Amino acid sequence: MKKLFIISFLFITLLSCKDVINEIPQNPFLITPYSFSYNTSLLPPPRIPSDNPLTEEGVQLGRMLFYDPILSSDSSQSCNSCHNQANAFTDNNNQFSVGVKGTVGKRNSMAIFNLMWHIDGFFWDGSADILRHQAIQPIIDETEMNETIDHVIMKLNRSPLYKEHLQKAFLESTFDEKIIGKALEQFMLSIVSSNSKFDRVMLGLESFTDEEKVGQVIFNSESIPLKDEVDPNNPQNFGADCFHCHGNSLFMRREFLTNGLSDNGDKGLGDVTGNPNDNYKFKTTSLRNIEKTAPYMHDGRFKTLEEVVQFYLSDMNASSAVDLSDSPNLHALKDSVYLSPEHKKALISFLKTLTDESLLTNEKYSSPF
Ligand code: HEC
Ligand code: HEC
Repeated sequence: MKKLFIISFLFITLLSCKDVINEIPQNPFLITPYSFSYNTSLLPPPRIPSDNPLTEEGVQLGRMLFYDPILSSDSSQSCNSCHNQANAFTDNNNQFSVGVKGTVGKRNSMAIFNLMWHIDGFFWDGSADILRHQAIQPIIDETEMNETIDHVIMKLNRSPLYKEHLQKAFLESTFDEKIIGKALEQFMLSIVSSNSKFDRVMLGLESFTDEEKVGQVIFNSESIPLKDEVDPNNPQNFGADCFHCHGNSLFMRREFLTNGLSDNGDKGLGDVTGNPNDNYKFKTTSLRNIEKTAPYMHDGRFKTLEEVVQFYLSDMNASSAVDLSDSPNLHALKDSVYLSPEHKKALISFLKTLTDESLLTNEKYSSPF
């Protein structure tokens, strides 16, 4: 079996007739290179760790593990329990997730898509360096799946079905922690979201409504602090300045930042690094599929997008846990933006164009069982 070499890379034709290659270094252990099907004029080329190139077999094994309660101590919970596809892989609108022992966590579950373009820093506080290390944490976390790695390995090694898939994917005969991490990493990296109305408008296949167009301008324009200077006919004059932190085609900035939330005792990155300059910095998440991932922020404090917009455009000033004048990114927002109720509505309409219905239903990402 080890003599199996890949002889060819798979080229696939996409919507735009552009080719995407999962750039895999020559590796005798691979069987079928995984082929991505997204449009490269919308999102960057694949970014895959060189020591874990994606294969169809590896992604499939990871998908099985993701949906299998075998990873939890009482077989009641899979990754999917708190990362449901219909909610862009977040936890069914729950503010906090409930683990196998009935314990409640303190952070809101995070969406899983386009992870291959994230910075190496997972969880709201960046406490996991790379994805395959992240993937082990929920298994052993007492407040989540509450299992031991040794026990998971034993259960998997006992299963003829898993042994068969392990052999196909990694040409190995026994599971270990590294392989479990790598398989889950492969499946999660394979999840791509790039088929929202926004994307189709970018490709010239659809058009925004007038309201969505105004919302897009507001999203992408800096705010003008002084209400007196506002020209009510020009949305560029009262932008909401979202693009500085949630811009580009991924709708996220690959940084841990503070966005002026009030203190709830969670210092985020600061608690991980111990550096006071990192206090209240959290992962700047993508706004793609944001309509489906309520509630919002690391502690799920806002139930609706209306509440989020209200926070950014007025409440933030009064309550911020950090001095906003020290934060150049929030400078434009700090003196408040003047948005009429219609413009707030337009901004939210634009955010809703980022919903990718195909992500929520794509069988490639759904349960294999
Ligand atoms: C009990 C609910 C629960 C289960 C089960 C669970 N997760 Fe999560 N997941 C969360 C929560 C809550 C967070 C955010 C935690 C934090 O930042 O402290 C999270 C964060 C993540 C992230 C970080 C995303 C990012 O952008 O940084 C990934 C990836 C992830 N989970 C994958 C998994 C995988 C893989 C499994 C199964 C092995 C799993 N989760 C099981 C609740 C859960
Ligand atoms: C200074 C950078 C910055 C700016 C400007 C900014 N954001 Fe954010 N945004 C963040 C960070 C950081 C988070 C994560 C904060 C947390 O949970 O602690 C976030 C979180 C969010 C969330 C919740 C994401 C989730 O997964 O729960 C939404 C929605 C959001 N921002 C929308 C917007 C909108 C709309 C604007 C413009 C009005 C905007 N943001 C402007 C940095 C920013």
